[in-house]
Amino acid sequence: RPVADDSTHSSSSAPHRRLTKVSVIGAGNVGMAIAQTILTQNLADEIALVDALPDKLRGEALDLQHAAAFLPRVRIVSGTDHAVTASSDLVVVTAGARQNPGEARLSLLQRNVELFRKIVPPVAEHSPDALLLVVSNPVDVLTYVAWKLSGFPASRVIGSGTNLDSSRFRFLVAEHLDVNAQDVQAYMVGEHGDSSLAIWSTISVAGMPAFKSLRDSHHSFDEAALEGIRRAVVGGAYEVIGLKGYTSWAIGYSVASLAASLLRDQRRVHPVSVLASGFHGISDGHDVFLSLPARLGRGGVLGVAELDLTEVEAAQLRRSAKTLWENCQLLDL
Ligand code: 2OP
Repeated sequence: RPVADDSTHSSSSAPHRRLTKVSVIGAGNVGMAIAQTILTQNLADEIALVDALPDKLRGEALDLQHAAAFLPRVRIVSGTDHAVTASSDLVVVTAGARQNPGEARLSLLQRNVELFRKIVPPVAEHSPDALLLVVSNPVDVLTYVAWKLSGFPASRVIGSGTNLDSSRFRFLVAEHLDVNAQDVQAYMVGEHGDSSLAIWSTISVAGMPAFKSLRDSHHSFDEAALEGIRRAVVGGAYEVIGLKGYTSWAIGYSVASLAASLLRDQRRVHPVSVLASGFHGISDGHDVFLSLPARLGRGGVLGVAELDLTEVEAAQLRRSAKTLWENCQLLDL
């Protein structure tokens, strides 16, 4: 049969499927770990990289392009101008000063807010329909900053939050029980940082609530041991920064998992930084962002799960919300 249908002549016409574009702002260790994980997981048709250092940026883009023979076909573009991010589906912001060994995430605030003033408005202008995923620290306050500066609805502005802390938590519980971390559910919520909360009642292994049986069977699972695990989770980043200078691989995988849920409309629940006013007694007037389990899909945050918190946990969450809100109020946005 003579080949005459339109599709055989379509080499110069537009592709049938809409292409997915992800932009990564900041080509440092974190930005590049995210870009390369997104690349290997085939989550994007085009990746745009932006950085203030043109040579470093060009080098990173070329280095990724040189892997073309081993990877899905992805167009990689880069530029110091935010125009390269135009029409993104997802923009991941990693740019900013990072913690020195021993330094708290909140101490980075002023430096990174100044940077966000230069990044967020042009990014929002070039991709008015994008999802904005903030990774730079202090991530909760900067997610608030990005929300304010972008003018986007809160459902499209998300902070990577405690998705990573929860992975550290699941790793430690899995090690303790000698099981696979993917079979362990366990949430850290609240601030990504020093006041993050381990919600012990959420621990389950292969779908079975595990906290009570853990307490009954492992006599070592007392308050001190639990606090030890929480401290190990919170101290995890400080430990890595003390040893190698920064963290990168785990945040790369953590953000790629968020990108997958968002871009592929997976409706998976992740603890990420969302607008939390009204939840667990956090004041309605406080537009604070912190991590709660949120259902993510192509529209961004599709819903937030109400956790069954103890009174002590809810009070801790409100305390962390108050600290974060005080930080937000110091900013002139
Ligand atoms: C992390 O937790 C430093 O926030 C970064 O790995």
